[in-house]
Amino acid sequence: MRTNYCGLIDSSYLGQAVTVFGWVHRRRDHGGVIFIDLRDREGLLQVVIDPDTPEAFATADQSRNEYVMRISGVVRNRPAGTLNTNLKSGEIEVLAKEIEVLNASLTPPFMMDDDTINEETRLKYRYLDLRRQQMQNNLRLRHRVASSARRYLDDMGFIDVETPFLYKSTPEGAREFLVPSRVHDGQFYALPQSPQLFKQLLMVAGFDRYYQIVKCFRDEDLRADRQPEFTQIDIETSFLNEREIQDIMEGLIKTIWKAGVGVDLPDFPRMTYADAMRRYGSDKPDLRVSLELTELTALMKTVDFKVFRAAADMKGGRVAALCVPGGNEKFSRKEIDDMTTFVAIYGAKGLAYIKVNDITKLNEEGLQSPIVKFLNPESLGAILKACNAKNGDVIFFCADKAKIVNDSLGALRTKIGHEKGFAEKGYRPLWVVDFPAYDYDEESKRYVSAHHPFTAPKDEHVALMESDPSRVLAKAYDVAMNGWEIGGGSVRIHSPELQAKQFAVLGISPADQQAKFGFLLDALKYGAPPMGGVAFGLDRMVTLMCEKWESIRDVIAFPKTQRGQDLLVETPSAVTEKQLRELHIKLRTQTPAA
Ligand code: AMO
Ligand code: AMP
Repeated sequence: MRTNYCGLIDSSYLGQAVTVFGWVHRRRDHGGVIFIDLRDREGLLQVVIDPDTPEAFATADQSRNEYVMRISGVVRNRPAGTLNTNLKSGEIEVLAKEIEVLNASLTPPFMMDDDTINEETRLKYRYLDLRRQQMQNNLRLRHRVASSARRYLDDMGFIDVETPFLYKSTPEGAREFLVPSRVHDGQFYALPQSPQLFKQLLMVAGFDRYYQIVKCFRDEDLRADRQPEFTQIDIETSFLNEREIQDIMEGLIKTIWKAGVGVDLPDFPRMTYADAMRRYGSDKPDLRVSLELTELTALMKTVDFKVFRAAADMKGGRVAALCVPGGNEKFSRKEIDDMTTFVAIYGAKGLAYIKVNDITKLNEEGLQSPIVKFLNPESLGAILKACNAKNGDVIFFCADKAKIVNDSLGALRTKIGHEKGFAEKGYRPLWVVDFPAYDYDEESKRYVSAHHPFTAPKDEHVALMESDPSRVLAKAYDVAMNGWEIGGGSVRIHSPELQAKQFAVLGISPADQQAKFGFLLDALKYGAPPMGGVAFGLDRMVTLMCEKWESIRDVIAFPKTQRGQDLLVETPSAVTEKQLRELHIKLRTQTPAA
């Protein structure tokens, strides 16, 4: 019979008898008096047990950290000088009358207020890790975000419909997780990478506005912002154009940010993919950083310096610069050298630089640099002008295939921006629009969808689909924030002919189209409405809202490691020969468990 949560008792309860349940956060023996900080989900409560209640005292004496207790007593003021202003219950304490140990605990592998525990230990003992205040806060934040999203979408007339997890293997997107069928020898389900086609089918079915907060499964290489199973706020609408969809979605994101962290987000600016790549080298630019890249490709077509000239002349090459105002004072020589090592991660073969000492001297006297000797004063003057350089600036250059230049200088921009004082605080969301429809995959020598194969090309680009796929832009859009892609969506193809044409561009033969996507092509023939939608990465958004955001693992109750393992339940794990036989599976390498 709990009367109160520990963490919510304050001086308004003075003199009252209370019964609380919780865990021993700390026990201190003050020679004759025992103090227990009892913890529950709402916080800590100081309990005093004195020898005048011998039974309670004996129990308190035997209790240890993380024991589960029931304590009854009376609320009183803490003695002057011992108040704790950090706690809601910091002005009071409970003088215990009765104590019961409901369960003992082994000595925990870490203290609940330690923030230096290694992640492996945290994940192995996740149920203890989740007792820590920070993790309690994170999961409650996640709950606030999810429930505010539901409220917003409910109010806007969206209907929550569940879709299957046992889905079908399809040839597009990330690698899938397969599930063998027992009943159908040699056949498999696949776990869905997203409910994309089901939500489109729901539009064909006339639901008009659908949403689901749903798990998605992708067998990708994992990183700080990627989990093999993650959660999307998945949305689809009928009869709306790109802009109308985006406006509803922007309202959703503003609503959940307000509910999550009390922040009023600014209106989201719109930027084309091409502009984002040109100015930031990224399709998810961190707009908190003020630095921008300078485009030099055209200018470098006229210089003699081989490295720059070759990249400028190469098909798909790019030469760009990052000018750091006042860089001369901000970087040591060693730091400048270390930047070269940093960009090498992204494939850059070098990182030329110019330290601008005296802009009036366009030679090695005024410009300290390993490349000035290769460039004539006219070119140097043009470079400095393009970069809007001033005395004291440092300019970094990268010349290569556009992807390498963008990845390298894009990453350098945010690194320098955050480390050297060019970043503001807060949230800077934006829409990135007008994505290319296709990427060329060098390995398979064919075009692949930049978003997914159901994304509609821009009307005026349909004619280019066969003649020059690389120039086709799609009705696709992302929301980026602080350097992370938090959501993406598109207007879909609703014509069966156009969908078949798109599959053809992607090199999917008519027979394969029928085998893999026949159900979609058929459905589109029965009066499919114009439709479009979006999916937001819930884990990523909540992580961005956490004060100390590093990894989405910190906002998922039971996440996987970078190697896809759950260290708590210890999976993936071997299965028995009998299980395998039932599933008609014979392993190629490992012997199954006994
Ligand atoms: P997309 O593949 O862009 O779109 O995914 C939408 C959003 O989901 C998040 N996300 C991830 N989060 C954590 N771990 C992952 N492995 C992971 N992969 C993606 C990102 C991303 O922006 N069906 C389409 C959406 C649509 O067109 O409506 C889709 O899934 O925040
Ligand atoms: P090198 O003549 O090879 O010594 O190169 C001269 C300078 O150009 C060095 O500072 C290199 O780091 C730099 N550099 C080499 N390759 C590239 C490249 N692809 N992009 C930018 N700078 C480069």
